[in-house]
Amino acid sequence: MKALEQRIIEAGKVLGPTVLKVDSFLNHQIDPQLMYEMGKEFSYLFREEKITKILTIESSGIAPAVMAGLQMNVPVIFARKRKSLTLTDNLLTAHVYSFTKKETNEISVSGSFLNHDDSILIIDDFLANGEAALALAKIVEDAGASVAGIGIVIEKAFQNGGKKLREKGFKVESLARISSLENGQVEFLSNELE
Ligand code: G4P
Ligand code: NA
Ligand code: NA
Repeated sequence: MKALEQRIIEAGKVLGPTVLKVDSFLNHQIDPQLMYEMGKEFSYLFREEKITKILTIESSGIAPAVMAGLQMNVPVIFARKRKSLTLTDNLLTAHVYSFTKKETNEISVSGSFLNHDDSILIIDDFLANGEAALALAKIVEDAGASVAGIGIVIEKAFQNGGKKLREKGFKVESLARISSLENGQVEFLSNELE
C-alpha cells in the first residue's frame, strides 16, 4: 500500500536492524485517515473470503481492525493481555512468547463472541515472529471457528513469522512488507498485489 510505505519513509524511525518505530501514526498517536485507507485495503484484499468477524489483540491492532470492520460491516473483537474484572466466563486463552522480551504472556477472549460457524479475519499491526498471530489462530480454532485470513499492517519479512504462517496454509496479506532495516534504511519488498 503506497500511502503506508510513504508514511513509513517519512515518519518511521529505524531504531536498529530489527525495530521500526512508527508511533507518530500507528503505535501511539494514530492517524485516522490512514487507518481508514488501511481498512479499505484489508476489505479489498479479503473480498473473496466470507468474513463474519475480525479478531485482533490490544492495543495497536485495534485501530486498523476497527477500520477494516467498518468497511466489511462485521464486529471486531480484541484479545486482552490482562485479566479483566468482568471477562471471566467461558474464556479462551493462548500463550504468546515474545522473542525480544523473552517472556510468555497469556491472552484471552470470551468464547461468547466466537461461534463455531464464524469465519475470522485476524488483524495485527506488526508481524515479526508470528507468535501473536499464531496465538489468535489457536483461540479461533479452540472456539471451533475458522481462520479466513491474517491481515498485517507492517510485516518485517526478514523475520520468520510470515514464512511460518504461510507454511501453515494461512492466507497472509500485509499492507507493507519490509525486507531490511539495515544501516538505518527501510527497504520494502515489491508487492505483487499492487
Ligand atoms: P518479538 O517476538 O519480536 O518481540 O515480537 P512480538 O510479536 O512478541 O512483539 C512484541 C511487541 O512488539 C508487539 O507489540 C509487536 O506489535 C511489537 N513489535 C514487533 N516488532 C516491532 C517493530 O519493529 N516496531 C514496533 N513499533 N513494534 C514492533 P505489543 O507489545 O503487543 O504492543 P501494542 O500492541 O500494545 O502496541
Ligand atoms: Na505494538
Ligand atoms: Na501488536
